[in-house]
Amino acid sequence: MKQTKTGPVASSTLDTLRCRLCGTVTEAGPFHVCEECFGPLEVDYDLEGLHGTLSPELIRSRPTNLWRYRELLPIERDPEGGHAVGWTPLLPAPRLGDALGIEDLWIKADSSNHPTQSFKDRVVAIALQRAHEFGISVVGCASTGNLANSVAAQAASAGLEAWIFIPEDLEPEKVVATGVHGARLVRIKGVYDDVNRLCAEVADRFGWGIVNVNLRPYYAEGSKTVGFEIVEQLGWSLPANVVAPMAGGSLITKLEKSFKELEKVGLVAESRTPRLFGTQASGCAPIVNALHAGESRVQPVRKPDTIARSLAIGNPADGPFALRSMLDSGGWGEAVSDDEIVEGIRLLASLEGVFTETAGGVVVAGAARLAREGRFAKGGPTVLCITGNGLKTPNAARATFELGEPIDPRLSEVVRLAEAGQQEPVG
Ligand SMILES: Cc1ncc(COP(=O)(O)O)c(C=O)c1O
Ligand SMILES: [Zn+2]
Repeated sequence: MKQTKTGPVASSTLDTLRCRLCGTVTEAGPFHVCEECFGPLEVDYDLEGLHGTLSPELIRSRPTNLWRYRELLPIERDPEGGHAVGWTPLLPAPRLGDALGIEDLWIKADSSNHPTQSFKDRVVAIALQRAHEFGISVVGCASTGNLANSVAAQAASAGLEAWIFIPEDLEPEKVVATGVHGARLVRIKGVYDDVNRLCAEVADRFGWGIVNVNLRPYYAEGSKTVGFEIVEQLGWSLPANVVAPMAGGSLITKLEKSFKELEKVGLVAESRTPRLFGTQASGCAPIVNALHAGESRVQPVRKPDTIARSLAIGNPADGPFALRSMLDSGGWGEAVSDDEIVEGIRLLASLEGVFTETAGGVVVAGAARLAREGRFAKGGPTVLCITGNGLKTPNAARATFELGEPIDPRLSEVVRLAEAGQQEPVG
């Protein structure tokens, strides 16, 4: 498809994309880069036109999936798939809140998203719908794991061919949960940034819909539904603080956009600015490093070294925008060690019954640090975005408990264990 510029004019429909840097408007299509300045392209909506047309009652009357916010999503036709994606639980987390010293703490549990247990199911649903609208029949992605799972699964149910590109050293669970769906799985000798670069060439050469490359403007908008749901589940009120993981840095920028859009269309009354907090693993923390150094440029990390593979993006596409989201909202960012990540996974599972992958451990551990530093605004809910499922990174959690030797099936054996644990058997 050829990109056509229409100049820096006002645009307000899904027929066009707008450059986030220079404002140039181009005709909508599977494009993500401005031909004038190489800046990233973004979807443009007529939010003023929507003001007053959406009400809590209207949205409540719709099915509990991410399409309930469809006027604020970049789709033109009735969705073909994704009818079980989104509307994940928002859980009160008082026990974790006590442990971390955070009042009114909540967990947004995308660890139970459908179909592949991560927030990537949202972005993929939008990208595949848009691919369908553009008449694209082969889709793909460059992935740190969760995206691979979701593109493979959703392409399978949509009957699309999928080509998935991953770094060669991904966790075996994420490899299996991709391959099982019948996708073409290509392992690349290199880090995520090598995979991503290759995918940009693949998209150009073959015209496929690479969801996080040439379909990225649409794909990225799917992350807004995390924010829309948090606000709706809090009774159409804005949280005081939100903590998110950062890899490419897209999710945190889209949380900010989601809150602003709900205000613009009149779905929330109060005009609080939720503080946005980004967290990374210290073995790959290009965005947090820039934040702490007071830089607006993000220096790439060449060789990420962390158990949080899903966040191991050394050269984050949305890094500078993520920095702005944190600073403009009055938030902050923190990076945590692998040991802290494991402790974060343990705390969330043992206090709230939610088993998250390493990315969720980063969020919990990051929130612990931010709480100690007194960064959170008081007087409203604090929401931790738990974006992935612990069954995908079981090795990280293995050290959180001791597994005893097997015993013979005799009551005396249990009595022995109970006595060793200084517990009196009852009765
Ligand atoms: C579980 C999980 N959480 C968070 C992220 C980060 O998202 P973003 O790239 O939008 O910063 C990823 C990205 O791969 C992920 O897999
Ligand atoms: Zn531009």
